[in-house]
Amino acid sequence: MSTYETVKGTFDLLPPQAERIVAVREAMAAPLRRAGYGYVETPTFEATALFKRGVGESTDIVTKEMFSWTTQGGDEVTLRPEGTASTLRAVLQANMPRAGLPIKVYYSGSYYRYEKPQKGRYRHFSQVGGEAIGAEDPALDVELIVLADDAFKDLGLRNYRILLNSLGDKECRPVYRAKLQEFLRGLDLDEETRARIEINPLRVLDDKRDSVQKQLVDAPLMIDNLCDTCRAYHEEVRTLLTEAGVAFVDDPKLVRGLDYYTRTTFEFVHDGLGSQSAIGGGGRYDGLSEELGGPSLPSVGWALGVDRTALALEAEGVELSGVEPLSVFAVPLGDEARRRLFDLVTTLRRTNIAADFAYGNKGIKAAMKAADRSGARYALVLGERDIAENVIQIKELATGEQESVPLADILTIIQEKLK
Ligand code: HAM
Repeated sequence: MSTYETVKGTFDLLPPQAERIVAVREAMAAPLRRAGYGYVETPTFEATALFKRGVGESTDIVTKEMFSWTTQGGDEVTLRPEGTASTLRAVLQANMPRAGLPIKVYYSGSYYRYEKPQKGRYRHFSQVGGEAIGAEDPALDVELIVLADDAFKDLGLRNYRILLNSLGDKECRPVYRAKLQEFLRGLDLDEETRARIEINPLRVLDDKRDSVQKQLVDAPLMIDNLCDTCRAYHEEVRTLLTEAGVAFVDDPKLVRGLDYYTRTTFEFVHDGLGSQSAIGGGGRYDGLSEELGGPSLPSVGWALGVDRTALALEAEGVELSGVEPLSVFAVPLGDEARRRLFDLVTTLRRTNIAADFAYGNKGIKAAMKAADRSGARYALVLGERDIAENVIQIKELATGEQESVPLADILTIIQEKLK
């Protein structure tokens, strides 16, 4: 034990479980790569103003959850709480739109939110995200939803649903917002919620308390108040999703926790996770580029939660193939054997055979124990007498069967056995 431990809301990923996380990230990125999304990596911290502006001043993320500080040089910076604002900033900064639209990019990394930690909700977590920037086309929204669905299905996940909604655009949303505010002002709500009506009334719809939900039964819904263009757009998204064979549930009360969304919004929720059930989410953000000082670039994207997806897989009992199991574990007895076996292990690895070595001058007993623990298929044991006789012992660890073979042929013998 050391004096120090991880701070609240954070955790270490250690082998072998950490390999599951690597497999989840890879499975989420693969469908994006197949669809022409290119990898981007942005810094883990950015100007605080970017997130205030990008994510929205009234969101929980900005008001309560950012890790922000002033640098020695006096700059206000924040650990990224999400990836969309940074990605769009990077795309604008590099003037990528010049090369044609849409720009399709993806990312994978750590994000930070000062949330109350619980199972599936951490202060340091991992997302894979995809963003299609600069095109207004329902097929692009559907492409992204299908790619996320493919990723979850490829991983073997089954018990999740896709919730779908439209949040309107700059024409119809303000009209609806006023209508909703009028309705909400007539309800019996606490001080904090009343304040929310004035700042971010749509979030009230998302209130989890029964006492609030009971009063919201007759609340006006965005979906019933879409303008004709938004309605047609949303219908096309629904049609294309159905044609793609992707099942979804219309959820007119789906409100996302970030301010930039317009039109299509969606969330992937898993039934085996308790309250932190969202394994991914996203939507359109047609006005964000202008909000960040850029040109009009209607865009759509999502981010999937890597840690929560790993929990969901565990809840469904899905095994992920992790690291490649070792084929060979080499046990040398004596200095000459060490040199020869170390050389052999290096050669095996160079021919794509996973191999490890009994380091640390262990005695035969401890070294064979290490071989068993390693999960390797074969142990190779070489001692001084073997060298004198030009042989090597090869032991199949599962059965305990051992044979003596010519040292000079060991590489081909192993290759044969592993075929
Ligand atoms: P988000 O819904 O805030 O969206 O996060 C996406 C996913 O990240 C969630 O569904 C969840 O699985 C995971 N996640 C979020 N917070 C935590 C946490 N504290 N602990 C563990 N997992 C968490 C976004 O971040 C948007 N940027 C998505 C997007 C991309 N929209 C458009 N483009």
